[in-house]
Amino acid sequence: MKPIGPLMWEHRLIEEMVPLMKNEIDRIGKNRIANVPFIGITVDFFRTYADRTHHGKEEDIFFLELSKKKLSGKHKKIMDELVEEHLLARKTVKKLVEARDNYMKGEGFHLEIIKDSLVELVNLYPNHIRKEDKEFFFPVLEYFTKAEQEAMLLKFREFDRHMIHEKYEGVISELGGRVPRRWATIKE
Ligand SMILES: [Fe+2]
Ligand SMILES: [Fe+2]
Repeated sequence: MKPIGPLMWEHRLIEEMVPLMKNEIDRIGKNRIANVPFIGITVDFFRTYADRTHHGKEEDIFFLELSKKKLSGKHKKIMDELVEEHLLARKTVKKLVEARDNYMKGEGFHLEIIKDSLVELVNLYPNHIRKEDKEFFFPVLEYFTKAEQEAMLLKFREFDRHMIHEKYEGVISELGGRVPRRWATIKE
């Protein structure tokens, strides 16, 4: 299997969030009320799955390995744009969280910011995914030997293996608990 395989499967799941967010945008427009639990789930999906798990493999493994190659100007430009778009997505999710928190305090005008943030994510992700799938992943694979591709795939698996633990260590930390040291040692 090529290392872009898992990245493209993950794109298929991220795409499924788009119509769900569109429904929420429509509901906010009609009812002038936000579905706070839905926003919470959306934020967790983008932070844990789309950003940490998916962009994490792209930036910390795939793009990092690519940056060691002599990329064409065109490929370098696209990779820079993709990283910029990851940053923009992160900023938008942060804006969504802050708007949700303020909205829950009863500050009604933050409803518009919730809606705008969802619209930004709905506009950003399909284009970002299309760019990676159609313009970037296949051509840049040519920079790697078969052995390098296989090594990357192994790194992806290792990266993913840590995610569920990282997620719930984060939950314990957020709740004020202490992540056991023994576990931290095993991770290294
Ligand atoms: Fe990406
Ligand atoms: Fe991606």
